[in-house]
Amino acid sequence: MEPTARGYGVSLHYDRRLYRQDIAGSLAHVRMLARQGIITEEDARAIGDALVEILEEIEAGDFPWRDDLEDIHMNVERRLFEKIGDAAGRLHTARSRNDQVALDVRMYTRDAVSRTLQALRRLRTALVDKAEANDRAVMPGYTHVQRAQPVLFAHHMLAYFEMLGRDRSRFLQVYRMADVMPLGSGALAGAAYPIDRDGVARELGFASVSANSMDSVADRDFMIDYHAAAAVCMMHLSRLAEELVLWSTSEFAFVRLGDEHTTGSSMMPQKRNPDFAEIARGKTGRVYGHLVGLLTVMKGLPLTYNRDMQEDKEGFFDTVDTLLATLGIFAEMIAGMRVDAGRMRDAAADSHLLATDIADYLVGKGMPFREAHGVAARLSRHAAAEGARFDAIPMDTYRRFSDLFGPDVFEITVDTSVADRDVPGGTAFGRVSQAIAAARVKLEAENED
Ligand code: ARG
Repeated sequence: MEPTARGYGVSLHYDRRLYRQDIAGSLAHVRMLARQGIITEEDARAIGDALVEILEEIEAGDFPWRDDLEDIHMNVERRLFEKIGDAAGRLHTARSRNDQVALDVRMYTRDAVSRTLQALRRLRTALVDKAEANDRAVMPGYTHVQRAQPVLFAHHMLAYFEMLGRDRSRFLQVYRMADVMPLGSGALAGAAYPIDRDGVARELGFASVSANSMDSVADRDFMIDYHAAAAVCMMHLSRLAEELVLWSTSEFAFVRLGDEHTTGSSMMPQKRNPDFAEIARGKTGRVYGHLVGLLTVMKGLPLTYNRDMQEDKEGFFDTVDTLLATLGIFAEMIAGMRVDAGRMRDAAADSHLLATDIADYLVGKGMPFREAHGVAARLSRHAAAEGARFDAIPMDTYRRFSDLFGPDVFEITVDTSVADRDVPGGTAFGRVSQAIAAARVKLEAENED
């Protein structure tokens, strides 16, 4: 082959990452071939021993990689020939690179999911820790980035715990999708030998074997599922990133990120730029891109294997690397973040946040909510015009808006506002304490799987 063309087809520089899966798959395959009497025990042992040596060479950085051999599979096989001669040629009995690569990427995906679940757990633990350490901090909750109602900072942190918990469920589902053993599908039609697919699946820890050889060499859905779960997870992280960026401005000043997670400016000495939150927000784009990339690679492919599918890997590895790194940075960033509960409370003490509570107060005195809402809105406008907080409005002024107002209206505070949201899922102190405890129990139970 002419060098430019050969270079164009090479995938070795990225698929060599699959070496562990590739060798584990070959070991299981060759043992099965011997058990089934398809090759001799002696050949199987020679092949197995040499494969283990190859694994060690790769891990030690001593493996003689050869670009002219295109991919990881050919590199390992050629090395096997160098080590044991013709017996090496028996490894590929009843196997094709098509079912081999399908096996490798399925095993890689399972590993990636396991690492993702661990990284998610670490971040979710950091969120609960931060919530618990600041369980009395009250802050404004926002809609439209407008101060809306007082909430607990812990409640806000636990919102992300919930999002990332759903991400966890999505990744568990990705694991199930990947956990199907394709070997034995051959190039596309199955294998003409008395192979034991269940035995191979058992040895490699797969839950089942694929039901259709054509589907199983042509399928990359499980990788798309990983990308999709990663895209949703990055979207969540990017929203958190955006909040950290906002909260660490002088305008908000609700949090101070650790020195190791901010950078200065070469010109402006006062700057503490939240670079890592910003980078994470930016990296979300590439993860979305890889999802669309693989969907597009697959969309026009007739069954079964087509070489286009070699393009499944680079984007996938990048998505896995990006997500794991981002989860790791966030776990550190949240753990190292200082919460300024005083600043948060000051912002929440803007008494306009209590307008809903004023309306609720009138409802408590028998007024229909819609009408009470109108009274509270007029009172709010009056207070804004006077530049006064609700608690600075005199009683007789209150009475001009409604004669249902009594002196107990002055008992409404940021804290009573929080305390009153005492429903399942609400921000009341007790509810949030329960939610923190429930989150701990959940994390503990997840540790068991
Ligand atoms: N490098 C190839 C890939 O990733 C391996 C499978 C090659 N199969 C083939 N029939 N050429 O898809």
